[in-house]
Amino acid sequence: MSTRPLPEHVTVTIDGTPSRAWAGQSVTAALVTAGVWPVRRNQVNGEPRGPFCGMGVCLECEVTINGLEGARSCTAHVADGMDIRTAAHG
Ligand code: FES
Repeated sequence: MSTRPLPEHVTVTIDGTPSRAWAGQSVTAALVTAGVWPVRRNQVNGEPRGPFCGMGVCLECEVTINGLEGARSCTAHVADGMDIRTAAHG
């Protein structure tokens, strides 16, 4: 009987706090796993927003990744040392 190898872990920073994630995991999954919600606020009414479609269409999951604003967290994959910033509390 063979066993599947465990996935490798990477360390990302979410709003300045180090967090472990599995290599290859989406940034959305890393945020959800870390208990981060919401990830941004509606620019007009300030309502909390977060991932909805999970496939790059709705833009509700936008965060800043390594300084790049407006990155879709659902289609981005974590990488070791990645800096993820949400706009939920600004
Ligand atoms: S969850 Fe819809 S674009 Fe990311």
